[in-house]
Amino acid sequence: MRVAIIGQGYVGLTITVGAAGAGHTVVGFDVNEELVSKLNSGISHIEGITDSELKGFLSNRTFIASSDASLLNACDVIVIAVPTPLTESRNPDLSFIHASVELIQNNVKTPALIINESTSYPGTLRNEIAARITGVNHLFASSPERVDPGNTQWGTKNTPRLIGGLTHDAVTKAKEFYSTFCDTVIEVSSPEVAEAAKIFENTFRQVNIALVNEFTQIADALGISGREVLDAAATKPYGFMEFTPGPGVGGHCIPVDPTYLAFVANEVGVPATFIKRANEVNLAMPAYVVKRVIAGAGGSVKGKSLVVVGVSYKANVADTRETPAASIIDLLRQAGATVSWHDPLVGGWRGEASSDLEVCDVAVVVTKHDVISVADIKKSSYVFDCTGSISGADGI
Ligand SMILES: NC(=O)c1ccc[n+]([C@@H]2O[C@H](COP(=O)([O-])OP(=O)(O)OC[C@H]3O[C@@H](n4cnc5c(N)ncnc54)[C@H](O)[C@@H]3O)[C@@H](O)[C@H]2O)c1
Repeated sequence: MRVAIIGQGYVGLTITVGAAGAGHTVVGFDVNEELVSKLNSGISHIEGITDSELKGFLSNRTFIASSDASLLNACDVIVIAVPTPLTESRNPDLSFIHASVELIQNNVKTPALIINESTSYPGTLRNEIAARITGVNHLFASSPERVDPGNTQWGTKNTPRLIGGLTHDAVTKAKEFYSTFCDTVIEVSSPEVAEAAKIFENTFRQVNIALVNEFTQIADALGISGREVLDAAATKPYGFMEFTPGPGVGGHCIPVDPTYLAFVANEVGVPATFIKRANEVNLAMPAYVVKRVIAGAGGSVKGKSLVVVGVSYKANVADTRETPAASIIDLLRQAGATVSWHDPLVGGWRGEASSDLEVCDVAVVVTKHDVISVADIKKSSYVFDCTGSISGADGI
């Protein structure tokens, strides 16, 4: 099939590689021209996708990156994989989806299967995509992406894929497409079910993470280890699933997607109380971490040297979107500490460069990448660990 993928970020490039690997001819469309030229030079910006993989697809002409919207025409399949963030007032921002829709409306003159993989609330495919594209008899399906960047066990091939279409033909064609590079394709009765399943999955994580984040504070106040309690509870072979505490949630999904569900819930008059409370608890974690660091460092960090280790939102990825490290650093600086940060994967962030992992008065481990040495972290006088990976350290 001739395939166009709108958006070449974490999701779009992952699908590009899946589809090109299955022998489809893929146009990776992105408005970011610098990214397009890097991709066309065979340089990947995503963990888990190698330069040599890209170079292979470029040389056998199964992949080309482009900012030329005319290449969207005459494709069999067009996948939308663009950001769905929140506005400043924390409401769904569908502007990237609407821009993609406009590109399709203005450039695609032959019928195609149009699939939305971007995460959004139920009704997005029907009302915000299909209803806005007129004049050509396209098919429309929703297949929300479940990729977990950096996860070496579960990828595009072995993670079951949900599909909901506006028509039977759309579902049939979407199944035909995804079956070429996904082991398991699951049809659901409507695009709304597929869309809602994706945001419920992430809401489930957000709420459970908030629950353990609150619990770890209770356990600490009781003088017991929250992590030991959770490990003990996880020995129950049924009816329990272990989540671990942390400094807050980051990335493009867990802090954002549940708010999309809360938005539609509000529209239909049902209060999404768990989502609201989970957001509050998770957003308050950096302040809790800083409070504990100050207490552990003898009641003050004023004038002390402090290194924050790992600033991306999770281990072994360079993604800093919504990372709790930002608030932790800001709050520690407000408390008078001299704060540097060390993250060899991130390199540069917020106009600052990653420093060497120096010996400091205090080291706060926010994210522990495999490449960071525990022995080096332990050289600092006091270590506060938010990851549960530094034995003997104080932490959550
Ligand atoms: N990152 C994840 O782990 C993940 C997992 C599952 C689902 N999702 C969802 O997938 C969607 C995409 O997320 P992502 O992480 O890939 O985002 P991203 O920011 O990594 O990539 C998005 C890309 O889209 C491009 N873009 C923006 N507007 C465009 C337009 N009008 N036309 C063409 N390209 C455009 C950007 O330049 C960027 O390269 C979001 O809805 C997200 O919630 C993300």
